[in-house]
Amino acid sequence: MSTPRRLKIALIGLGRLGAIRASILAFQQPRIELVAACYTKPGSDEWAAANLPPSVKYYADPEDCMKNSGAEAVLISTVTATHAPLICMGLDLGLHVMCEKPISVDLITTAEVLAKARSNPHLKFLVPFCRRYDDSYRAAKEMVENRSLGEIHAVQTTCIDQQDPTGFFISFSAQSGGIFVDMGVHDIDIGRYYLDVTSGLANPKKQVNRVVAMGQQAVYGELAKYGDCDNGWGMVEFANGKVLTSHLGRTLTNGFESCTRVCGTKAHSVINGNSTINRVESFLNDLAEFSASVLDDKPLTCTPDDAYEAAKIATALQYSFRNGVPVYFDDEGLPILETSKANVV
Ligand SMILES: NC(=O)c1ccc[n+]([C@@H]2O[C@H](COP(=O)([O-])OP(=O)(O)OC[C@H]3O[C@@H](n4cnc5c(N)ncnc54)[C@H](O)[C@@H]3O)[C@@H](O)[C@H]2O)c1
Ligand SMILES: *[C@@H]1O[C@H](CO)[C@@H](O)[C@H](O)[C@H]1NC(C)=O
Ligand SMILES: *[C@@H]1O[C@H](CO)[C@@H](O)[C@H](O)[C@H]1NC(C)=O
Repeated sequence: MSTPRRLKIALIGLGRLGAIRASILAFQQPRIELVAACYTKPGSDEWAAANLPPSVKYYADPEDCMKNSGAEAVLISTVTATHAPLICMGLDLGLHVMCEKPISVDLITTAEVLAKARSNPHLKFLVPFCRRYDDSYRAAKEMVENRSLGEIHAVQTTCIDQQDPTGFFISFSAQSGGIFVDMGVHDIDIGRYYLDVTSGLANPKKQVNRVVAMGQQAVYGELAKYGDCDNGWGMVEFANGKVLTSHLGRTLTNGFESCTRVCGTKAHSVINGNSTINRVESFLNDLAEFSASVLDDKPLTCTPDDAYEAAKIATALQYSFRNGVPVYFDDEGLPILETSKANVV
């Protein structure tokens, strides 16, 4: 019997998430071979030598790694600011690309990257939104699709991280784009996933009518200087009339809470994603899907359009919070932002 073909992947970035990804790529993906890893963070080499197979090659430079490691695909797990240039580099070198969210904190850059991905349809491109790969969210999706909840009219999410006494995310806030962009993008995506936001539209380009957001610096006053908050509330009215509401926070003292309520006319379904087991499970499932999509030419659960639509809504919510105004969307489907204020922090 011939050995089944495995997808040769190079991993760029061995930080907190990158290290989890490396172990999964090396030991828990029967259809993937981790051929190389690239890191710039001090100490990563010791971790890699102790934890990864000896066959993995190491590179300090991402371009060298993508060109010379023999990889057919790349997983980008680096700091957010490097995602867009690394995605473009991978696509230009003819590699299939999977990248952690978000593509960029800047909408124009996001649109440019997605245009490049669309113009290379022979290359697979995946930005996985992890909740779509979690079994409890998938079970709720089945109930939505088989209509056992009736007509879905709203989704309500809560995602509150444990309070971090080191305040790491305060300095991180300067580059993260703010709580709605960094954290809220997952809630926005899962809302879009359940609310059938592309059907029943008078204008197919316009999926959203308006958003409004509010926020507080309840514990971390310093966030104000970055135009950020530690508790934020966002409301999104989709053009099909459906509504998403989200409470995002970073200040829970007794653990971490993540909960999604899918509101249907016959029943509600409440998904409690309060589990690190499910989080790791989603990091296995998205890689399995990515490798199958390349090896068997199968479709992906998250498309470039999903990434772009979620980024537009996240940017609009962050703007709404910063400027204290609702944000409407135009007929091209873009949020109407006064550009002079859009990036003011
Ligand atoms: N659920 C999710 O989807 C999820 C969860 C956590 C993190 N993330 C995303 O994953 C990314 C990584 O997060 P993290 O917590 O592991 O960050 P981290 O800061 O722990 O690690 C970042 C890594 O990037 C590397 N790096 C920095 N600049 C580089 C460059 N120019 N070239 C190559 N490598 C470079 C660093 O050496 C480090 O290994 C972030 O974009 C984050 O938003 C997504
Ligand atoms: C709908 O899907 C759910 C979840 O898989 C299942 O439990 C339920 O029996 C299904 N209902 C119908 C009517 O098919
Ligand atoms: C949520 O997770 C915490 C810590 O892992 C646990 O102590 C708590 O019981 C969980 N809550 C629920 C509702 O599952």
